[in-house]
Amino acid sequence: MYLLIPAAGSGRRMGSSRNKLLLPLMGKPLLAWTLLAAKNSRHVHWIGIVGQPQDWQDFKEIVADLGLTKSVRFIQGGTTRQESVYQGLRELPAVAERVLIHDGARCLATPDLLDRCTEALEDCIGLIAAIPVKDTIKVVNSTSHLIESTPDRRNLWAAQTPQGFVVEQLLQCHTEGLRRGWEVTDDAALFEQFNLPVKIVAGEETNLKVTTPVDLAIAELILRKRMRDEE
Ligand code: CTP
Ligand code: MG
Repeated sequence: MYLLIPAAGSGRRMGSSRNKLLLPLMGKPLLAWTLLAAKNSRHVHWIGIVGQPQDWQDFKEIVADLGLTKSVRFIQGGTTRQESVYQGLRELPAVAERVLIHDGARCLATPDLLDRCTEALEDCIGLIAAIPVKDTIKVVNSTSHLIESTPDRRNLWAAQTPQGFVVEQLLQCHTEGLRRGWEVTDDAALFEQFNLPVKIVAGEETNLKVTTPVDLAIAELILRKRMRDEE
């Protein structure tokens, strides 16, 4: 499977002066944990890391330290995640029929999740990892700040990555979405806009996206527990 890792952000909400993916987590940069899952996946054989040129040196060192023997390509990202993924898609080898996209910031995803998504993508054209929402979600009026409705929680799922697609179709969605000026925060949203089916694969509760300093602390707790359980 071909895997694209969007890693070209700046980590504004982390409040850090550099890309949050370079921050240390249990002795390794955050991105190293994400790449470790890719390294240990049975199906992933090609990894495209989408980044900004100022981070390439660090990214290359991370890849070297992991002893990654799979094919790795460094691809220049854009100013939004959407742009970064689009750039990544255009740099995929021509033989790539299907692709998984997995955020660098979701550094706790397991190799098993990558492999389950790969296998599920054999029978569909689009999928995302997701988990049932635990909180009750309110729809709130942005001006009055009054609650408008409470959607039935049984129909609500929290989207994660990996997200997987047929390359040709996702590329078409990106190209057309760009032309129409659509801004999306994940790739499934583009598929949905064109009424293409997107399947849900059971995600992982621990597969959080490290966004703020609190997430980093939680990620450390989860990794510590994993290491204890493996002893
Ligand atoms: N990303 C990317 N290109 C961008 C912006 C984001 O490849 N122009 C990547 C990030 O590196 C991250 C993933 O998309 O792995 C999810 O984005 P997010 O968690 O929002 O990371 P940042 O954009 O870095 O953080 P923030 O929004 O707080 O600045
Ligand atoms: Mg962002």
